[in-house]
Amino acid sequence: MTLPETAKIPFGGDYNPEQWPEQVWDDDYRLFDAARIDTLTLGVFDWALLQPAEDVYDFTLLDQIVERASAEGRAICLATGTGAHPAWLARAHPEVTRVDFEGRRHRFGQRHNSCPSSPVVRRLSAELARRIARRYAGNPSIIAWHIGNEFGGACYCDRCAEGFRDWLRAKYTTLEALNAAWYTTFWSHTFTAWEEIEPPSALTEHWRGPDHTAFQGITLDYLRFMSDAMLACFLGEKAALRESSVEVPVTTNFMGMYRPIDYHRWAAHLDFASWDNYPPDDCSQARMALTHDLMRGLNGGQPFWLMEQTPSVTACRDVNPLKRPGVLRLWSWQAVAHGADAVLFFQMRASRGACEKYHGAVIGHAGRSDTRVFREVAELGEELDRLGGATLGARTPARVAVLFDWDSWWALEISDGPSRLLRYQQIVLSYYQALWEAAVDVDVVGVTADLSRYDVVVAPALHLLKGDLPERLEAVARRGGSVVTTFLSGRVDEHDQAFLMDVPGPLGQLMGVRVDEWDAREPEYANPVLLETPGARLQVDSMLIFELVIPQGAETVGTYQADFYAGTPAVTRNAFGAGHGWYVGAGLDQAGVTWVVRRVLESHELVGPYADVPGLETATRVTSEGQRLLFLLNHNNGPVDCTAHRAGVDLLSGAHIECGQPMRLDARGVMVLRQSPGGTDNQIHPYG
Ligand code: GLA
Ligand code: ZN
Repeated sequence: MTLPETAKIPFGGDYNPEQWPEQVWDDDYRLFDAARIDTLTLGVFDWALLQPAEDVYDFTLLDQIVERASAEGRAICLATGTGAHPAWLARAHPEVTRVDFEGRRHRFGQRHNSCPSSPVVRRLSAELARRIARRYAGNPSIIAWHIGNEFGGACYCDRCAEGFRDWLRAKYTTLEALNAAWYTTFWSHTFTAWEEIEPPSALTEHWRGPDHTAFQGITLDYLRFMSDAMLACFLGEKAALRESSVEVPVTTNFMGMYRPIDYHRWAAHLDFASWDNYPPDDCSQARMALTHDLMRGLNGGQPFWLMEQTPSVTACRDVNPLKRPGVLRLWSWQAVAHGADAVLFFQMRASRGACEKYHGAVIGHAGRSDTRVFREVAELGEELDRLGGATLGARTPARVAVLFDWDSWWALEISDGPSRLLRYQQIVLSYYQALWEAAVDVDVVGVTADLSRYDVVVAPALHLLKGDLPERLEAVARRGGSVVTTFLSGRVDEHDQAFLMDVPGPLGQLMGVRVDEWDAREPEYANPVLLETPGARLQVDSMLIFELVIPQGAETVGTYQADFYAGTPAVTRNAFGAGHGWYVGAGLDQAGVTWVVRRVLESHELVGPYADVPGLETATRVTSEGQRLLFLLNHNNGPVDCTAHRAGVDLLSGAHIECGQPMRLDARGVMVLRQSPGGTDNQIHPYG
């Protein structure tokens, strides 16, 4: 992993001067100066421009664009231009368009639309990347390569079917192994030739859409294959770039919690992670924090780039609310607080036509600088300039980890039973929300991550267990840590076959329980759960899923209050080694999840000093010199008051803060406190 080397946080974003005559560029650079925009992502959708016909390449305009940006002293994140394929390509090679889930061969249109298995797509996209690198690699303004754009979706064409069979041959070697893994004795599915295998689609194993499959094993493997097929496209372009650019770091923009692509399968192949933050609404602070932490976790905890965010509005949703004054700044600092080493926008200048003409931009159609949005961008630019390199490379000293696993996500949501209403992201988010409210630093990591540095590991809905994960979770508890898991964990192996043992399978010893039966109910139904530990007691509701838990050594922490299982355990805690395994068998409401998580954090003295100040978020980063930076983010529409738990200097205002001093953050206010050494901060952890 290598991040681009910069002296400060790169600030700027996607810029498409190819849409404009050159005199507009003059205005743009004047405005970029005014807003201190120092970094431009160029050429994301330039394929048709750069290659107007199969045997014709034309870099005239991109040369001018790159030359101008360099001459203006901007750093460049240069794209390979393959975010959308050209119309001539679809006409000349109809195989390059995708076949959708219903089996319809698409024709030319939209973007992100190439079949990932098409040899023509792979050859020509790599060739374009090769030529771009050959042409521009010597330009010192280029600090990063940006491959494609937001890889995603799926294809079900015949070439993908062939690719799938090859992928399966490599994975299983024999049809016997494949038949065993997919459990094909069921419903007379035994495959006797590789050619019989079909992509799981609406025409084959699925009904009612991508989540309803007759064979989870087949669908799971297709999801993995598709993720790998797109990765192969990425790698083809990366290898082509590397032929003439050995050192400039390579990335592609991820989409956070994006189901179709297993970013953990991709992570090792990127030099650094970057992502596009477009939350569904304006009250998703914890969700954004979770996603930033997930993206940071891809890099083994190294910083990432915030590649895109809108300065004001999106355009693609049915209703596109405006970011209120101060939100652009607040959310940018939130990204930095969670490990972003770049703050970039989509986009610098608003497109005049097509579907993004109403998408927010730093510069609108009238080209004015006296707009609220431009002013806020410029103010942030100034602030980032003042901050300089103080945060760059700083790491998050988390002692709490949340496990996030695409395989579990897929397996849970393509499962028939016990409930279609259980959604992986929501479950993970409710546990993360509880941690967020406790103002504790969290790493969100994949299931192969090193868990030895954590005191608490929270693994919500860890449905699918693979490798040595159960042993590594046991090791966390054995040395005194706490492991929290929930209903529907430890159910299936990597092929989505049930473990032939009591639920929760290989987690049973650690949790000290067995799950005998499970009940699922409509969302209107709630079963109250009484939560009780010495000194804490709360009755909450549980919904959707109710596992009937029989302790095998665990003590009961929560008890169902209704139905024939009233009085039986819903939440348990098991002493294991020097630590504990917590099992939450019921779909607790947020108050219940928060209660359980709080008890766990308290047992490790990990509740943050700013816990429970409503709407106040904190996050810590520690620089390579060991300097602690505490970010305080006020998500409220009004001011918030708290008390400094340590002395420090606010890097944004220069204010000196004494320990115990009352602090007021304005509505949507931000502080970045460089804390004095010493003190008794329970979140300090030496970074290994
Ligand atoms: C994505 C894309 C951009 C643009 C924005 C609009 O993130 O990468 O090209 O379409 O969305 O929000
Ligand atoms: Zn295809």
